[in-house]
Amino acid sequence: MEVTLKERYCHFIGGEWVEPQGGKTFETVNPATGEVLARVAAGDAHDVERAVEAAWQAYHQSWSRTDANARGKILYQIAEIIRKNSEELAHIETLDNGKPLLESRLDMFLAAECFEYYAGAATKLEGKTVPVFGERLDYVLREPWGVVGQVIPWNFPLLMAAWKLAPALAAGNCVVLKPAEQTPLSALRFCELIGDVVPKGVINVVTGFGPEAGAPLVRHPKVKKVAFTGSTEVGRQVMAAAAANVADVTLELGGKSPQIVFPDADLDAALEGVLLGIFYNAGQQCSAGSRLFLHKDVYDPFMEKLVERTRQIKVGDPLKPETQMGPLVSREQQKRVLGYIELGVKEGAQIVTGGKAPEDPELQKGCYVEPTIFVDVQNNMRIAQEEIFGPVLCVLRWSDYETMLQEANGVQYGLCAGIWTRDLLQAHRTAQRLEAGYIWINQYDVYAYGAPFGGYKQSGIGRELAFETLYHYTQQKNVNVDLSGKPSRWFR
Ligand code: NAI
Ligand code: MG
Repeated sequence: MEVTLKERYCHFIGGEWVEPQGGKTFETVNPATGEVLARVAAGDAHDVERAVEAAWQAYHQSWSRTDANARGKILYQIAEIIRKNSEELAHIETLDNGKPLLESRLDMFLAAECFEYYAGAATKLEGKTVPVFGERLDYVLREPWGVVGQVIPWNFPLLMAAWKLAPALAAGNCVVLKPAEQTPLSALRFCELIGDVVPKGVINVVTGFGPEAGAPLVRHPKVKKVAFTGSTEVGRQVMAAAAANVADVTLELGGKSPQIVFPDADLDAALEGVLLGIFYNAGQQCSAGSRLFLHKDVYDPFMEKLVERTRQIKVGDPLKPETQMGPLVSREQQKRVLGYIELGVKEGAQIVTGGKAPEDPELQKGCYVEPTIFVDVQNNMRIAQEEIFGPVLCVLRWSDYETMLQEANGVQYGLCAGIWTRDLLQAHRTAQRLEAGYIWINQYDVYAYGAPFGGYKQSGIGRELAFETLYHYTQQKNVNVDLSGKPSRWFR
């Protein structure tokens, strides 16, 4: 499919394409080829101000009076638009991000499903009544915050936008969204497509870099709710900035998730799950199963197959149908990941496969890294503690259950975990003892709308994808009514 990109993209504010006030733009690059795809507005505080104002106006003039049923219908229409244009959007995603087309298509499918889930949920968000003392009626309303500020990363660009936009709109908010500077194009194309369906100002997109465009958004006094996905380091800054306005915050941050293989596991299934967990999207996922705890009794045969299968992964042009792993998102990310590989070697871990950028001359212009596996990893090494965010698996051999659990929990993160065993009692017991927000038993990386996704510890605050996500996007208003009709005297 031929995708026609514009040479230059502006901000989407109040339903219009708005020039960046400072006149600055930046290049967005295809990480598979190094080719410049387009120039995009580099937003600053002035652009954010306009966008927040547009969202504020839209909220007060129309969206706050649009009932839940009508909002739900608009979300269904958005889902329909994504489905109809999924091939084009998937191509744009692959060009801008580098992920294989198959994965981009899945992202579009999941983005549409996300809007559908929240389309249906919009009319089910209810308040409550409270049986208070005396002749009184007490009821609680769930009201939107008004303007929500959302900052998203580059690993699943349009899907992350969907995870953020859908619940915020369903709950009745207007949004200013800042996409990642590495991958702004799918969100911009999305804005072009939804222009006729979504009232002006309900969705606004300001593109640009974190400090210039993200920071003014999350510290804006009219933004009463901030939602962020990205690194833990920036997550802390976002939370601190929101604190200045006592704004509510949800954060989806990093992970260093364990995959635990017991000796009685279905090893073929575990093998597939381990491969998917670390090499899907070239390991650039917060949920990546980046630490494999492999029981000593199955260690050798499992590793033999794992290494063999890893060597067979087809790394290359993400537009080719046979490609299984594309480049990383940027030169910077490639350098970061190669830096971690170097560090792992210095720390004393052994590379059993991969470990460098591929030598294939055809791939030199892209930001590729070979699928890499480290063995002889100690849990206190930096490669076992820090989020690498690339196709790098750390393998730890275990024999004592308690020690393994301690190590599995022995990181600052607590996002996901995978448990592989045929003993379901063992599996559920282990799930109870893991410090993680999302756990899979005998599978990995499977998400379901309705099931709350989010982290323990420094992996974040709040939950996405679930019905209760709507609670994060609303505040409660309690109304207490006297029904007695008699004046209650305090001062006599
Ligand atoms: P990042 O956390 O800097 O970027 C994520 C988003 O935050 C982008 O839209 C960026 O423009 C924005 N941002 C940056 N600084 C900001 C600020 N001061 N205020 C408001 N917004 C700001 O992540 P980056 O630099 O792209 O990647 C670095 C590492 O972060 C990765 O190697 C990975 O470990 C982690 N990461 C985790 C993600 C996840 O899904 N949990 C997603 C992306 C990155
Ligand atoms: Mg790009």
